[in-house]
Amino acid sequence: MYCTRKITDDTTYVGASDRRLALFENTFPLGDGVSYNSYLITDEKTVLLDTVDPAVSHIFFENIEHTLAGRALDYVIVNHMEPDHCGTLYDLSLRYPDIKIITNAKAATMIGQFFGDGLKSKVTVVKEGDTVEFGKHTLSFVMTPMVHWPESMMTYDAYDKILYSADAFGAFRALNGNIFADEVNYERDYLDEARRYYTNIVGKYGVQVQAALKKAASLDIKTICPLHGHIWRENLGYIIDKYNTWSLYKSEENSVMIAYASIYGHTENAANILAVKLAERGINNITMYDVSKTHPSYILSDAFKCSHIVLASSTYNAGVFTTMETLLADLKAHNLQNKKVAVIENGTWACSAGKQIKEVLASMKNIEILETEAKLVSAVSGESLTQIESIADEIAKDFEV
Ligand code: FEO
Repeated sequence: MYCTRKITDDTTYVGASDRRLALFENTFPLGDGVSYNSYLITDEKTVLLDTVDPAVSHIFFENIEHTLAGRALDYVIVNHMEPDHCGTLYDLSLRYPDIKIITNAKAATMIGQFFGDGLKSKVTVVKEGDTVEFGKHTLSFVMTPMVHWPESMMTYDAYDKILYSADAFGAFRALNGNIFADEVNYERDYLDEARRYYTNIVGKYGVQVQAALKKAASLDIKTICPLHGHIWRENLGYIIDKYNTWSLYKSEENSVMIAYASIYGHTENAANILAVKLAERGINNITMYDVSKTHPSYILSDAFKCSHIVLASSTYNAGVFTTMETLLADLKAHNLQNKKVAVIENGTWACSAGKQIKEVLASMKNIEILETEAKLVSAVSGESLTQIESIADEIAKDFEV
């Protein structure tokens, strides 16, 4: 049975949520699912904006059929070709064989790659600034390469002042009937997963996100309709400001995140001692992660948020412990910038984790490595305890406490 909601008189949400998927992109854990958003305008012509992941295709096609109420589907606009949004494009063309596809040249190439030349032949190519009238709705197209793929674009509806923003302004988590951000306590319940989505999916492309935000700033936008997560029709400045902060790699908080890789607990002990020393110096809201337990996507997200990071790792095979190595690669791959980082290393013999962590950090942009560091020889001792105190002192200087 269909399950839709009206966005405006003639624009309807026809997407759906998947609460069964364990790993988004077969990588990112989903504690509470994800939504695949799709929108249908029923004007003189009928226009679908993007499709959905095949996992929710059954309800998606019911939603379209109900909303069309016997009419044909004339057009589908493809803003993004990642298969979580184009995965049902071919099925759509089988159900509505006269449908025309509107997208840009790069996406048209990808349609050929994914589905063959038959589907590609249905494409009308648009470019930056082109407009198409469908009745009272005139849509224009804004190219936003690398937000999140090179073919990504946004579509602007001048009639309702809606920006269909593709992956931008998206978030993990299913939608629970309340498809509008103003219907939920977004900051309390959804912001963390919006940040995790942004930092992990688009975080590498801050420059391109800034370019997209500048283009969007020239449009009169009343509503933002992304491909995942909630629709924004109030307080748009809130989420735009978050995107601006994240894409400029600015920290959201003056706060400390400690991530440790510990094999038998001694490095963890050092991390716990440092956390207490920081707390004793008046630093609040310290976060701590065992990198062997917490998926790097959560730690990366918190790393974007915090001003100060402490990385503590055992030495392993003459290198950095494997799970810390993974985290480090992730931080670097996502262009993490503008952080102060302290390093704690541990080794029973030939301790080398710290040196190698600092080499990776030094290859990243605008990462300040604190001069104070701690070296454990197997376990925390008098000398390393003093070093941990020194790290706490140096970090605390940056806090008004
Ligand atoms: Fe939700 Fe880049 O696709």
